[in-house]
Amino acid sequence: MTNLQIFLDIATEAALSAGVVLQDYLGKVEDAITEKGRPGDLVTAADKASEKVILEIINRHFPQHSILAEESGKLGNQTSEYLWAIDPLDGTTNYAHQYPCFAVSIGLLIQGVPKVGVIYDPFHNELFRAAAGLGATRNRRPIKVSQTSELSKSLLVTGFAYDRWETKDNNYAEFCHLTHLTQGVRRGGSASLDLAYVACGRVDGYWERGIAPWDIAAGIILVQEAGGQVTAYNGGDLQIDSGRILATNGYIHNSLSQKLMQISPLSAW
Ligand code: IPD
Ligand code: CA
Ligand code: CA
Ligand code: CA
Repeated sequence: MTNLQIFLDIATEAALSAGVVLQDYLGKVEDAITEKGRPGDLVTAADKASEKVILEIINRHFPQHSILAEESGKLGNQTSEYLWAIDPLDGTTNYAHQYPCFAVSIGLLIQGVPKVGVIYDPFHNELFRAAAGLGATRNRRPIKVSQTSELSKSLLVTGFAYDRWETKDNNYAEFCHLTHLTQGVRRGGSASLDLAYVACGRVDGYWERGIAPWDIAAGIILVQEAGGQVTAYNGGDLQIDSGRILATNGYIHNSLSQKLMQISPLSAW
C-alpha cells in the first residue's frame, strides 16, 4: 500500500468517526451554540466534539505531522512537511438550524500541496475521497466533473464570509451578476460540499472569498482528481491561504475567471 493510500484510509476513519459524533449531536446543541466574535460566526459543542475525535485519530497515527484545525488552530510539529487541514464541521450555521447541508472535511497537504482529501456528509451518508494519482470517489465509486462548457448553461455555487458586513470586499456583486449570466447560483453553506459537488458534477463551478485552508484543502484535491480545475480568481496558481478560490469543471474555467475579474476590481487576483 502506498503512503497516500494509508493517509487516505486514516483520514477516512477520522471523518467517519467524526460523522457519528455530528449525527449524535444533531438537534441537541441549542444550549451550546456561541458566536466566535462576529455576528453569525457560530461554534457548537458538536464542532468541538468532532474535532476532538479527529485530532485523536490523526495524532495517534501521525504524531510527527503538523495540524491546522479550525477550532484548535496550529498543533504539532510545525516544521513537518505534512500538514493536516481539518474542518470538523463545515456548515455550522446549517447544522445549528438542522438544515441538512454540513460535512467533515480533512485534507492533507504535503510540502504545501493538497494531496489527500476526505469529505463526509453524515446526514446523507456520502463519503467523498481523493488522493493524488488515485482518483476521486463518492461512496467508493469513481466520480467526474460535469461537461457543461457554456456559462449560460451552468449551475454555480458560492458562499459568503462571516465578515461580509464589515468589508466592501464581499461577494454580493459577483453573486448578482453571475445569477443573471448562468442557470443559477446556489449558496449551500458548506464550502467542502460545494467543492465535492463540483467534483461529482452536480454543479459546474464554485468561487468564494474569505475562505480558510481547512474549508478547501480536501476539496481541492477532490476536484482535481475528478478532472476539474482549481486556481486563483485570475486563473493563476492558487495560494491556499489567499482566502479566495475558483474551482470548476475546467470547461467553464476561463469564462468564469474572466467574469470574476470584470465584475469587481477587488476580484482582480
Ligand atoms: C463556512 C462554510 C460556508 C462558507 C464560509 C465558511 P464553517 O464554514 O463553509 O459555506 O461560506 O466561508 O466559513 O464556519 O461552517 O465551518
Ligand atoms: Ca468551514
Ligand atoms: Ca467549521
Ligand atoms: Ca466556523
